[in-house]
Amino acid sequence: MRPVARNRYGGAARMDNVSAQHVQMSSTDAVIRTSALTKVYAGADFRAVDELNLSVDRGEIFGLLGPNGAGKTTTAGMLTTRVIPTSGAAFVAGVDIVAHPTLAKQAVGVVSQTNSLDRQLNVWENLYFHGRLFGMGATSSRRRSDELLEQFQLSKWARASVYALSGGMAQRLMVARSIFHRPAVLFMDEPTAGLDPQSRLALWDILRELHAQGQTILLTTHYMEEADQLCERVAIMDHGRILALDTPEGLKRSVGVDTIVTVKASGDQAALAASLEAALDGVTRTRVTEHGVELHVKGGERLLARCVAVAEEGGYEVEDLSLAEPTLETVFINLTGKELRD
Ligand SMILES: Nc1ncnc2c1ncn2[C@@H]1O[C@H](COP(=O)(O)OP(=O)(O)OP(=O)(O)O)[C@@H](O)[C@H]1O
Ligand SMILES: [Mg+2]
Repeated sequence: MRPVARNRYGGAARMDNVSAQHVQMSSTDAVIRTSALTKVYAGADFRAVDELNLSVDRGEIFGLLGPNGAGKTTTAGMLTTRVIPTSGAAFVAGVDIVAHPTLAKQAVGVVSQTNSLDRQLNVWENLYFHGRLFGMGATSSRRRSDELLEQFQLSKWARASVYALSGGMAQRLMVARSIFHRPAVLFMDEPTAGLDPQSRLALWDILRELHAQGQTILLTTHYMEEADQLCERVAIMDHGRILALDTPEGLKRSVGVDTIVTVKASGDQAALAASLEAALDGVTRTRVTEHGVELHVKGGERLLARCVAVAEEGGYEVEDLSLAEPTLETVFINLTGKELRD
């Protein structure tokens, strides 16, 4: 019997000419597993990805969150076999991506950062020929194309040129195409970059729906809100390394801060920050941002009133004052001292 890797849908990734011994299933239920995975690009004197150890569970939406150049795309590139690792190992659906890239490709679906639809083909054909490329017969490829257009609300556009699609629709079609062959894991690199807010929310809904159907998804993003809202676990990356990994809640709790206070007042910002820090209890960090002086506070009562009093005593005129809960940005700032988006 030919060995097959069953994915979540019970679909089979084909494994022609490969014996079962090539498929090294991990003892856990990990769909992605990396061990000291490293990439140094030719001519570069730094590691774009630096000894990454990662494990993504079946059915999970996992987020790689980090600023530009953190190594997110390189990580996704290696796991989808487009980038060859320099050292280390990685398994996707139990398949060694270095030893068996062709086989690993069958286990992954990819939605790239740029529009990669075939402009020579219409909307329906973009799906149909993808199926044929993955070895599916004409009848089942036709059926699956129709089914996916329906699911992604694109049936009306089946015969349209892909030029006719809005950004959000093109994105939906790319997602539909990426799951056509029922991959064990779906990779999405910055899926909502460049989308308008409405299309972004629509895509989040699609991802939630795929997740509800059991699809394992690895998402890269530098939108902290996206990681927070969508992902079950998030790895915060910078300089090719994972700095922290947990649920969004766990990450936010880990900073040990209850409230972020922002005081906007005219005058010397550094001096105001210093007086607020000195006068208030539980301040763990102060920063001067474009929005004013930001304080990270643990505990603390009557914060607003006390901030106003301290500022006014110092002769500052308070223009605005706000309280917020920590975000993943707070976590990133605590870990690196800088913002996710510079
Ligand atoms: N093909 C390449 N050749 C050489 N260096 C590269 C190549 N691709 C990426 N790099 C470098 O590797 C590092 C990691 O880049 P990568 O694209 O993986 O980051 P990223 O987290 O995806 O960033 P972004 O948010 O900008 O997409 C960066 O310093 C980048 O300049
Ligand atoms: Mg990238």
